[in-house]
Amino acid sequence: MMVRFSVLAAAAALAATVATPVLAAGEAVELKSRDWPHSGIVGTYQRDSVQRGMQVYKEVCAACHSLRFISFRNLVQIGFTEEQAKAIAAEFEVPADPNEDGDTFDSDGARLMRPAALFDTFPSPFPNDIAARAANGGALPPDLSLMVKARPNGENYMYSLLTGYEDPPADFEMAEGMNYNAYFPGHQIAMAAPLFDEGVEYADGTPATVEQMAYDVTNFLAWAAEPNLEDRHRIGLRVVIFLVILSFLLYATKRKVWADLH
Ligand code: HEC
Repeated sequence: MMVRFSVLAAAAALAATVATPVLAAGEAVELKSRDWPHSGIVGTYQRDSVQRGMQVYKEVCAACHSLRFISFRNLVQIGFTEEQAKAIAAEFEVPADPNEDGDTFDSDGARLMRPAALFDTFPSPFPNDIAARAANGGALPPDLSLMVKARPNGENYMYSLLTGYEDPPADFEMAEGMNYNAYFPGHQIAMAAPLFDEGVEYADGTPATVEQMAYDVTNFLAWAAEPNLEDRHRIGLRVVIFLVILSFLLYATKRKVWADLH
């Protein structure tokens, strides 16, 4: 008994250590927390918000970030028609195949480009990582496809980060070209605040506050990180219902089989 208790206590102590959030700066910051419509075992993506988030991503974030694992045809999943998805794709440019002379650069030395199509993925606006760093003070804007999954408490982190730009405390020393963010580990981030009130004009007329845009783009990026979540939830729920019914049936069978043997 005693042995079992001490094993449990050790496990609990270990779990507590592991669960404590650790930040590079050494202190834990409590994230802002919102209710995410897709969380919980029956959660689904909220189409309106995810579509608005796509608009925020396209008009703001795509100036620096790619979505390497999401192709334009995937947008049909979140309620865009194929025509709309095509039109959205055509707003992006990707490197063209060699032309009839086999050239990939024009006579001025510029890379030949073509409008993106349904089968393309959301491209990076930069030709390579070195160019991306050069344009961003040495920091690389990461691909955002899996970002919500790549950070602990990803949705709340993304939302907090995007709404977390502040003036640095008086005694805080900022490095050249960095921006103070209450939720970024170490508080200095190379990305300047990307969102401002009315930064986009929503097609559905929703007021575009910083909080609203941060919420919407987080919902969009959560979908991008796990497009199959709704199927997973649907199947999970069916399995649970199946197991409950099966348990009743097995219990009833057991009672019947054993009824005469007592
Ligand atoms: C002007 C370019 C630019 C724009 C626009 C921009 N970002 Fe960034 N972003 C960056 C750079 C550069 C970094 C790397 C920052 C660093 O490492 O200090 C970054 C990093 C990030 C990170 C990673 C933070 C982490 O924990 O490592 C996230 C998430 C992010 N951006 C989300 C967004 C979203 C969402 C938008 C649109 C609302 C956006 N960004 C718009 C340049 C940009």
